[in-house]
This record gives sequence, C-alpha cells and structure tokens, in this order.
Amino acid sequence: MSLSVSGRLAAAAALAAAGLLASATPGALAAPTAVTAAPTPPDIPVANVKAHLTQLQSIAQANGGNRAHGRTGYKASIDYVKAKLDAAGFTTTLQTFTSSGATGYNLIADWPGGDPNSVLMAGAHLDSVSSGAGINDNGSGSAAVLETALAVSRSGLTPTKHLRFGWWGAEELGLIGSKYYVNQLPTAERAKVSGYLNFDMIGSPNPGYFVYDDDPTIEQTFKTYFAGIGVPTEIETEGDGRSDHASFKNVGIPVGGLFTGASNTKTSAQAQKWGGTAGQSFDRCYHSSCDNTSNINDTALDRNSDAVAYAIWNLGFATPVPPGPSFESTTDVNIPDSPAAAVNSPIAVSGVTGNAPATTKVDVNIVHTYRGDLIVDLVAPDGSVYNLHNRSGGSADNLVQSYTVNASSEVANGTWNLRVRDAAAQDVGYINSWKITF
Ligand code: TRP
Ligand code: ZN
Ligand code: CA
Repeated sequence: MSLSVSGRLAAAAALAAAGLLASATPGALAAPTAVTAAPTPPDIPVANVKAHLTQLQSIAQANGGNRAHGRTGYKASIDYVKAKLDAAGFTTTLQTFTSSGATGYNLIADWPGGDPNSVLMAGAHLDSVSSGAGINDNGSGSAAVLETALAVSRSGLTPTKHLRFGWWGAEELGLIGSKYYVNQLPTAERAKVSGYLNFDMIGSPNPGYFVYDDDPTIEQTFKTYFAGIGVPTEIETEGDGRSDHASFKNVGIPVGGLFTGASNTKTSAQAQKWGGTAGQSFDRCYHSSCDNTSNINDTALDRNSDAVAYAIWNLGFATPVPPGPSFESTTDVNIPDSPAAAVNSPIAVSGVTGNAPATTKVDVNIVHTYRGDLIVDLVAPDGSVYNLHNRSGGSADNLVQSYTVNASSEVANGTWNLRVRDAAAQDVGYINSWKITF
C-alpha cells in the first residue's frame, strides 16, 4: 500500500516517524491555502503614548482642570486626536449627540482599505470626569489607541479587515457616546463589525493585568500577547459592563479588552505576581483630581499599548484555519462487478490529537465506467459509516469528488476505510486514490 501524509503539526511527527513521503509523492501534498499572515506587530513607543497624555493634561489645565462631557476640555481633546489622525491619512468623522443638555462628540477614524464587510474596531472613551484631567481614566486608553492607529499609518498596514478606531464621548455619564454610535449604526453595518476592542484604564499606577472574559478569540489574542512577555493575567472582574464595550456587546458584536484596575484593592497574591502594593487600590486617584500624568505606571502603559497593537495586527488579518494533516492512499483497489462484496481501501491515521473535525474532508478518485453503479462510504476506525455517494450521477464515468463529513464524534487516529460496492452488473472500475484531511 502506498500511503502518503501531509499537513501540519502532528502530521510533521507522523511524517518523520513514517519516513514519508511528501516529496516522493508531491501530488499528495495538501493544496496550498491562501493564509494571509499578519506582519510582526510593532513595539508601540511608550514615549509617544506619554506625549499624548502630556497634551491631554495641558488641555485639561487650559480648560478648567478637566476634559469632561459638555466642557471645553472635551472638545479640545477631540480636536487634538482628530488632527493627528487626519495628518496620518485616516478618514475621520466627528459625530455629535446631545446628553444632559450639552453637545457630545464621538470621533471615528477609518483606515482606508480592507474588507468593508469585515470591520475590526478598537476604541476608548476620551471624556474625563469633571473632578480631574482623567489621565489614567481614560487618557491612557485613548492615547494607546491613537498611537496604535498612527503606527498603522507609519507601517502602511494593509490588513485584510477594515480597521476603524473610535473615541467615545460621555462614557462617564453612562456609556452615552458609544451607545449613540451603535444605535445609529444600521443593522447591516453592525453585522459587519467582527469585533470591538475596548481600552479603558490601562496605565493604573498600582496595576493589575486584566483581560475581559468575553469573545474567546479576542480574549485569547490578549492572553497570548501577555504570555509571550511573561506577564500573568487575570480575568477582569471589577464590573463587567462598566465601559463602552457593553454598548457593542448589547447589539451582538464580539468584544474584548484590557484593564489595569480602578478602585478595587490589590491582593497580596496579586502583588506577588505583578509587583506593586498589596492592600492598596489599583488606582487611588480613580475619578479624582490627582488622576494626572503622575498617576500612570509606565510599564503597564507600555505593555498594554503593545498589546493593543498586537491585537490589531493579529486580528486585522483574516486567519483562515489552516488545513489539518491529510493522509492519502494511492493504492489501486479493484472494484469487482456486481454482485460482489464491498471492497475497502484503508488509511492508517496517527499523530492527530483528539477527534476528527466537523469539516473532515474526503477526496475520492474512483475510475469507473458507470458511477451510478457505486455505493461509496467512509468508515471510521470504530466502524461508523458515513455515506458519501449512493448510485447518483447516472451514466457518467469516474467519481472524482470532494466531500465534507461531520466526523466530529470520531477519534481521528486509527484505520479509516473508503468502502465501495458495485450494485449493478456490467460496468467496472477501481479506487484510484483517496485522501482524508482533518
Ligand atoms: N471608566 C470606567 C468607569 O468609570 C472604569 C472602569 C471601572 C472599568 N470598572 C471597569 C473599565 C471595568 C473596564 C472594565 O466605570
Ligand atoms: Zn471613569
Ligand atoms: Ca457494475
């Protein structure tokens, strides 16, 4: 029997173990798939992020000490962010709404290009409370998202997804700006948003590293980033729904985000893994006048800003699931004419972890003079039968066909068979080859 194996991961081990065969039978290789790899995400310069925070602090100082909804400091903050994005080639939209009798503003920045039907969004609320400059809450998230957008521009990124960044007004009054944004988005446009990433308080002075427990792909992306830099994370628990991601989640958009803590107290276990001071709030200046540029932990701001870019770069590129390992038999198996017992062409599968996928692919190549004679089954290692072909196709010859089988209840490893029986006399043929891809 000639068996060949190709694919990824465990298949590599199987290849090595079996001394097979990809090069000997190049036709057996899985077809190359159009996987668009994300370029390496940039290291976001924390000095640039801090420079934005310095500007936001100056804006607060020049406008009565805050950047709150309805105050001049808020509009000045919007103008600052918008000017940077306009200069970097973004298409910006200033959206106005009214709340508590004052005009509020959202700023939307679209990076030209990408699939308009698959939009990746990241955002932060730009308003402060009226008691202070709001540098950690939420200059930090606003500046990190801004600097990531500028890094997209600097690198001339051409992601497969369309990228959209948002700065929300009146979050501190109850997520008003972000609610306004999602409410005015037509249903069809909401459906195009594949994910929204929220960054609210990511430079807390006594930081924790919290990841929102929400969309699994987004959550895993952040966890992978932090694992890569050796920083343990915890699930965010200081009030789910307390920031703008809730507005998106409420209309069914997958969400995720990062957080370094507000008024909750750091435990001693947390201080042990993250450093900082146990028994003290993550941010003692939360919603107070001391939330200024001194209220930032540079390391937390740096790591989280890099995490923003990591997520945009990785999630911004479509990542079609690469095909799993595939196993092929090219041994000819004669199919005797009816009446006769079924014949089997076995393939021994090894090195594949767990069950076969719901999208197990079976490629069949049978040479025959009348395919309407044939009954073709996939038989799993435990004997379960999946019918692929039952005498259809009439008088045409040869059965060269690809099937997708939900084999998710089958353990992948073991011997699979393509079982063929000829159910009508006269025409004959043989199994030329077949292949199973997990
Ligand atoms: N801006 C938020 C607020 O004032 C800060 C916050 C508190 C938060 N808990 C959170 C942000 C949990 C994200 C997740 O309420
Ligand atoms: Zn707040
Ligand atoms: Ca026949």
